Amino acid sequence: MTHEITTPSELPEEGTVELSLRPQRLAEFIGQSKVRESLQIYLEAALARREAMDHILFFGPPGLGKTTLAELMARELGVNIRTTSGPALEKPADLVSMLTNMRDRDILFIDEIHRLRAVIEEFLYPAMEDYKIDIRLSEGPKAQTITMPIERFTLVGATTRQGMLTPPMRARFGIVQRLNYYPVEDLELIVQRTAGVLQVEIDAAGTHEIARRSRGTPRIANRLLRRVRDYAQVRADGRITLAVADEALQLLDVDQFGLDDMDARILRAIIEKFDGGPVGVGALAAAVAEDAGTIEEVYEPYLVQNGFLQRTPRGRVATAMAYRHFGYTPPRATDEQGRLL
Ligand SMILES: Nc1ncnc2c1ncn2[C@@H]1O[C@H](COP(=O)(O)OP(=O)(O)O)[C@@H](O)[C@H]1O
Ligand SMILES: [Mg+2]
Repeated sequence: MTHEITTPSELPEEGTVELSLRPQRLAEFIGQSKVRESLQIYLEAALARREAMDHILFFGPPGLGKTTLAELMARELGVNIRTTSGPALEKPADLVSMLTNMRDRDILFIDEIHRLRAVIEEFLYPAMEDYKIDIRLSEGPKAQTITMPIERFTLVGATTRQGMLTPPMRARFGIVQRLNYYPVEDLELIVQRTAGVLQVEIDAAGTHEIARRSRGTPRIANRLLRRVRDYAQVRADGRITLAVADEALQLLDVDQFGLDDMDARILRAIIEKFDGGPVGVGALAAAVAEDAGTIEEVYEPYLVQNGFLQRTPRGRVATAMAYRHFGYTPPRATDEQGRLL
């Protein structure tokens, strides 16, 4: 399998580490069992029929394994993967050599696919549907185009914002898989595995502490583990225990529940500016200077899942847990649906 990503020498150090931490086989991919099982079936079926696998879209918040799964698919299928991203593609010509150089059943991975320009999307439609591309031979209104066949291929798209994908684009993916935040038990397995790769000694309580404070996200778990390892090496005997993990994470300002800056801003805004809510997502977005769609698709799911935020028909409500987390007394009691008692 060949990778057409940034030249290795240009990868930042953590990037290189991240690549080495990626699972090498689908069976080593931890958690997301529904996604993994479905993929296993689709991969096996495509292999048996000697067909290109159907185009597939992965969506979900950053750091949950979308790129990893695209690479694992290529490995399992024994094909090459070419990687690009929505913002990197300016004109159809940028895709022509990629598509014409592909071998039968290869994978084209487009990250941030919600950021494709309209001309690129239109260029991709016949490629996806009929393995054909239209090439313009000259510029201008009378430009001649020729239609060229390309090899069968699988487009793997990844996005954090599936709501921003255009409907015609979304409709051309035969398979759509959503990645969810990982439960602590799965993150523990990921921390354990990474500790093994990094050859750092860590006990069960230390593993649990890092997993618990990783915001449900493998990328964060791996990053925190590396930072805690540094701390353990310099301030302790190199072993990661609960005490070492906790001291290191406090020094890093990692929240007790792994909430990040934007999570905290969202919750504080609801409590401090909107009296706990309910507040509409538009007003909330303006208050924290973040795009409403990103709040809905990237931040809220974690906050809702972990009991900090409730979505009610009248808007977002901060829970009693959110109040207490920021040192406030909850102003009134609500039930699980956020209704006043
Ligand atoms: N299920 C998993 N098991 C083990 N490691 C994982 C898993 N999911 C993600 N990772 C690790 O987390 C990091 C981020 O994953 P990545 O695929 O780049 O996420 P995304 O593309 O969704 O932002 C990588 O280092 C990857 O190896
Ligand atoms: Mg990625």
